[in-house]
Parts: sequence; C-alpha cells; structure tokens
Amino acid sequence: TKWEQMEMIRRDIRAMKAEKGVQKVIVLWTANTERFSSVLPGLNDTADNLIAAIKADAAEVSPSTIFAVASILEGCTYINGSPQNTFVPGCIELAELHKVFIGGDDFKSGQTKLKSVMVDFLVSAGIKPVSIVSYNHLGNNDGRNLSAPNQFKSKEISKSNVVDDIVESNRILYKAGEKPDHCVVIKYVPYVGDSKRAMDEYTSEIMMGGHNTIVVHNTCEDSLLASPIILDLVILAELCSRIEFRSDPILPYVTLHPVMSILSYLCKAPLVPRGTPVVNALSKQRSCIENILRACLSLPPDNNMLLEHKLPSTLFSPRPTNKLIIDHINSKQEQDQVKYTIE
Ligand SMILES: NC(=O)c1ccc[n+]([C@@H]2O[C@H](COP(=O)([O-])OP(=O)(O)OC[C@H]3O[C@@H](n4cnc5c(N)ncnc54)[C@H](O)[C@@H]3O)[C@@H](O)[C@H]2O)c1
Repeated sequence: TKWEQMEMIRRDIRAMKAEKGVQKVIVLWTANTERFSSVLPGLNDTADNLIAAIKADAAEVSPSTIFAVASILEGCTYINGSPQNTFVPGCIELAELHKVFIGGDDFKSGQTKLKSVMVDFLVSAGIKPVSIVSYNHLGNNDGRNLSAPNQFKSKEISKSNVVDDIVESNRILYKAGEKPDHCVVIKYVPYVGDSKRAMDEYTSEIMMGGHNTIVVHNTCEDSLLASPIILDLVILAELCSRIEFRSDPILPYVTLHPVMSILSYLCKAPLVPRGTPVVNALSKQRSCIENILRACLSLPPDNNMLLEHKLPSTLFSPRPTNKLIIDHINSKQEQDQVKYTIE
C-alpha cells in the first residue's frame, strides 16, 4: 500500500543516516516527471487529509508526494527537481507544521534560464515581447517520458509561467491582463540523445510600430547542465536551513520560512510561501541569494550604487567614515585631494 511504501522510504532514510554516520539528510527528487495530481477537497488539501489519503491508498497521491511526506516526517529537507505538483496544499501544510524545509520546482538549467534573463532584459529596456515561441527536442529518457501528453503538460505549465511576473512588472508596456503569446513545444528525437536542442524566437514591438526579432539556438548536454544545479540546490538548502535571526534582542531567534523561496534562482517554477510574490527574473533571484548571504556576515545589501565613485572627492570631509571612503579611491590625484581636505 502507499502507506507501507511511505514507511519503507522513512526506514531507508533512517538506515542510510545510520550507515553513513551523517548528521543530516536532504532528499532531492530527480526521478521522472509525473503528471499533475488533481487537488481535491478532502483528499490532499490539508495535512490531515493527505495523511488519511495515503492510508486509504488513494490513487491520486503521486509517488513524489509519498517521498516528500516521508522526508518531512523524518525531518529531512525535500527538494523537487521535476515540474509536477508534488507539493499539493496538504504537503505544504505538513512541512509548515513540522517546520521542515521544502523547495522546488523543476531545475532551471537551459532554455528557461536564458528566457528569464532575456525577457527581463527586454521588458526592463522598454522593448515589448509580444510572441515567445520555444521548441525543444531531445533524445534521452526524460525526452521519451515527456512525449506522453500528461507528463508534457506538467513541463509546459512549469515552463510557461516564467515570464508572468516580469511582464506584470511593467504596466507601461502591458495593460492589466495583457500577456505575450507564449508557446512551448517539446519533441522526442532519440538520435540526439542527451544533446538537447532548444530554439527560441522572441518577437517584440519597438518604437513607432517597429519590430525586433531575436532567435536563439542552444545545443546543450542536458544532464551536465542539471548536475551542478542539483549540487547547488542541496548546498544552498542546507546552508539556509541553519540561518536563524531575530529582529529585536528581546525576541527569540527564528528560522526562515519552511518554503525556501531563496532556491528560486535554481528552479523553473519557484515555490514560494502562500500569498508571497513569485520572482522569475534571474538577476533579482541571484541578488536575493547574495544579499541574504551578506546579511549572514553582517554586511549591508549590495545596491550597486557605487556612490563613492560618483561624487566629487572634494565632498569628503574628515569624519570617521573617511577611512572606508579612502579605501575606494584609486588615483593618486584623488588621494592627494582627500588628504588635503582631511588636513
Ligand atoms: N537538464 C535536465 O536534465 C533537467 C532539467 C530540468 C528538470 N529535469 C527533470 O529531472 C527529472 C529527471 O530527468 P532525467 O533526465 O534524469 O530523467 P531519466 O529518465 O534519465 O531518469 C529518471 C530516473 O527516475 C527513476 N524513477 C522514475 N520513477 C521513479 C519513482 N517513482 N521512484 C524512484 N525512481 C523513479 C527512473 O527509473 C530513472 O532512473 C525529470 O523530471 C526532468 O524533467 C531535468
């Protein structure tokens, strides 16, 4: 039964932990893409209902959700590298109740990573993408699996939402509810094996009714793109699971939210805490990681203003902060000026 399978995974985790003598286990799903599970009231909408559904051997509970529930009950961080909705609402609630970290969904390795850079660049530059069409063909087992319509649907959903928040961020270019046409096609072509081909066409409107079309052809070793992302996900998740902070010395320390949105940089369809914004733009996702890690070292966030290089050096005055400012001044002439001002 599904409950016995879940118990078996829990035993495997415990046995592995004892055998290897490790303090912490993180479970990452990189098995095949599953079809989306239906989210149904009374089945998987709450933690209690999900546990009851597993006990009742309900067909709609997916293998990946069984793995996730087993990991959560063992207190192990669980990361979903595939596109399906492993994290049904009941599974998220279970993680929150047990204060166990979860993250996902779907490794952001190739085409989508480039798209989250390209569309952010176009939209923020005032160039309006109106049609984004992406073709993929690949010949590995993932490609074969994705040629099944239900599994393809999971991937299509995961790949499609990546431009939404970027488009919504610019109300001058797009009216409320307006979106570019966005189409994703994946075909299984055995001969190319793991050497995945991704072809994208971005058509945008520019000034005075003009058009701009960018075409990208990307050939990549699928597994070699994903492997470092797997390592980064595990390392970052482990590090972040140890962050504790408090906003006032009289308050107790707390950890980050169990839904690790900080992993968004590495995921196509970022999982975020309920009611919080999804950020897909790659540069913002990266800057989020950098600044949280800087905060861990008591450093201020990097805002890229570099104001010290944009002010006339005569503005500097002999205050204690000058030590820091002088460190950033390179030219001999500027150093002399500062010395003069200080004196
Ligand atoms: N660049 C990439 O490789 C990349 C990028 C993003 C997402 N992904 C996702 O990662 C996943 C794995 O991709 P892949 O190319 O390694 O696939 P793959 O088909 O080569 O390997 C999947 C493995 O999972 C095993 N498996 C299937 N169902 C299982 C279950 N219920 N329990 C345990 N094991 C099970 C299969 O036996 C197989 O060995 C896919 O969902 C894919 O969409 C991969």
